[in-house]
Amino acid sequence: MVKDGNNGAAEFLPDRLDLNALRDAAASCEGCDLYRNATRTVFGEGPKQARFMLVGEQPGDQEDRQGHPFVGPAGRVLDRGLEEAGIERDDVYLTNAVKHFSFTPRGKRRIHQKPTAAEIDACHPWLDAELAVVKPEVIVVLGATAARSLLGRSFRVTQHRGEPVPLGEAVAVATIHPSAVLRAPDRDEAYAGFLADLQAAARIR
Ligand code: URA
Ligand code: SF4
Repeated sequence: MVKDGNNGAAEFLPDRLDLNALRDAAASCEGCDLYRNATRTVFGEGPKQARFMLVGEQPGDQEDRQGHPFVGPAGRVLDRGLEEAGIERDDVYLTNAVKHFSFTPRGKRRIHQKPTAAEIDACHPWLDAELAVVKPEVIVVLGATAARSLLGRSFRVTQHRGEPVPLGEAVAVATIHPSAVLRAPDRDEAYAGFLADLQAAARIR
């Protein structure tokens, strides 16, 4: 078979669906071209029993270096929000729609690039498998990329944020991405809205 690297993640899925097997298999995924320049796959983390699954966009610079989701600046906003919404960390499985860092080099810096629709689709089998194993009650959709992956291309976060929507056996609540809080002209206002959406998710169960 000629490998063009663009067939998506499905062919890399392990036979056995458990989190360790998934993480090991994802480490050598070549389902799209993003694996070529990123340091490593950043897979989801958290207990299998978690009632909440939080889905971000893709690992950032820090996540790519350290190998864990949401350990950079956006992660600090997220941690604060979870704590203030009363969502316990050990009740949370944290992952991303796309599992490799997409960037363009600028001098020594690596500038975050939004993943393409094709990359989001290519990586979807990993997210689907995580959902199948963890079976969360509540899915918190962090920003437009996660929404595209989970709720389809016509879903608009700005119009439907904070609203519970059925998603499989679970209920999803979308909100803005925590890095959008950091970029907002009025950070306090943006954070308050983000927190209100997390509180809406926390009230579901
Ligand atoms: N932004 C994301 O969407 N995910 C991470 O893991 C870090 C930053
Ligand atoms: Fe595989 Fe997803 Fe990485 Fe693409 S971004 S290589 S589909 S793990």
